[in-house]
Amino acid sequence: MQLSVVILAAGKGERMLSNKPKVMHEIMGKPMVGYAIERAEELSPTNTVVVLGYGKEAVEGYVKGYGVTCALQKGQKGTAHALLSAEKFVKGHDALVLYGDVPLLERSTLEGFLNFFRKADTVTFMTTDVENPAGYGRVLMKRDRIEKIIEEIDASPEERKIKRINTGICAIPGRLFSLLKLIKADNKKGEYYLTDICNIAQQKGITVKGYHHGRSSEVLGINSRKELLDANVTMKDRVLDGHMKNGVTLLDRNIYIESNVIIQKDTTIFPNSYILGKTWIGEGVSIGPNTFMRDSVLHDRVTIEGFVVMEGAELEEGVRVGPFSRIRPATLLKKGVQVSNFVEVKNSVLGEGSMANHLAYIGDAEIGEDVNIGAGTITCNYDGKKKHKTIIEDNVFVGSNTELVAPVRVGKYAIIGAGSTITRDVPEGVLAVSRVQQRHIKAHGRKKQCAE
Ligand code: UD1
Ligand code: CA
Repeated sequence: MQLSVVILAAGKGERMLSNKPKVMHEIMGKPMVGYAIERAEELSPTNTVVVLGYGKEAVEGYVKGYGVTCALQKGQKGTAHALLSAEKFVKGHDALVLYGDVPLLERSTLEGFLNFFRKADTVTFMTTDVENPAGYGRVLMKRDRIEKIIEEIDASPEERKIKRINTGICAIPGRLFSLLKLIKADNKKGEYYLTDICNIAQQKGITVKGYHHGRSSEVLGINSRKELLDANVTMKDRVLDGHMKNGVTLLDRNIYIESNVIIQKDTTIFPNSYILGKTWIGEGVSIGPNTFMRDSVLHDRVTIEGFVVMEGAELEEGVRVGPFSRIRPATLLKKGVQVSNFVEVKNSVLGEGSMANHLAYIGDAEIGEDVNIGAGTITCNYDGKKKHKTIIEDNVFVGSNTELVAPVRVGKYAIIGAGSTITRDVPEGVLAVSRVQQRHIKAHGRKKQCAE
């Protein structure tokens, strides 16, 4: 039987107090709805449909990246109405309903649910037990049969004491999908409740089943900023556990690695490191402590020492960066490059074996192989209006405290004398010095101070 997964994501999420649609709030760097889509895709369904409503542009822009289908719910008239807005994409398939705000759901849980549903071959809801059921639909069950799901606001005081709740996750066989059309909005909220499919089915002599899941923390939705934080903390540890399972050494739990980061084995990460975005890290890399990194590629055996801030960079094998370096976007450090103490690099390439180890600014530069950039070197790339390029060819030695006023090119094997301001191209193999000659003026020295 074909399966459509329908992810409900049209709600605003009032309790988040946010202009952003709830499902776009991030957990470990990934919008919540992304987790639901990934869980859906692990089941290899015929199609995945995301139901959009509030903030549809923002949500659509993001979910399109996954190649899913989007359905539009006009007006948030309830969960049954939301599911029906996906009808033309479900096309008589079995429908599995997930919520866009349940990011902690695990793959094995969903697989267990789906197996149960396939055997039961009838409408099935996933239930769980919670200490405080406030806000949830309460489930009345006889063994694994659901008799009734009552929403909090429609429940009697007795029913409100029930701790078995509806997680919202449910599945409907293709042949029963049309039952949704019989649901009426005859409740206190005036909404079309998906849970009312239970009554409708029973009126037609069809049993509804409940699949019970023990770990409630995994299947509950995020409704507030506090729940968002709690989910983030849970997910953070889950991500760390995943990396350790893959052979990564972590020296503390106080390490923050976002969900999309990929790390190969035998890499070691020191405490208080933040590794964010689409970062990819190879084998045998060492990172931190106290390092911040986003959207970067680190090839095998790279070493990042403490207090490095890096974004949008690619570091080839064996590169060493830090301590105390800032590597900005569009930087490529080729094999064996070293960049360390208080050096900033932006939109530049450093060729194999080149070094910039102390107090330098390298911006919009193309640097060849085996170049030594002396302490205090500055590429003056900006003339107040435009950015210009500095080109330094292979084997150049740039002396300390040099300014390279771009656009400028330094030819191979040239040496720049310390303290020079280079404003013209330097030919291959010369020594270029531009500093003022030293003069010695008699009788201008310091008076000898005699210690009493
Ligand atoms: C729903 C269930 C409740 C369950 C709870 C679990 C119903 C009637 N109630 O209640 O039994 O215990 O979830 O969290 O189904 N949505 C839309 N369009 C709408 C309304 C909602 O897409 O018109 C989406 C929301 O974005 C959200 C999900 O459906 O992802 C749940 O909606 P929400 O309003 O939070 O439902 P609850 O009242 O919490
Ligand atoms: Ca909810």
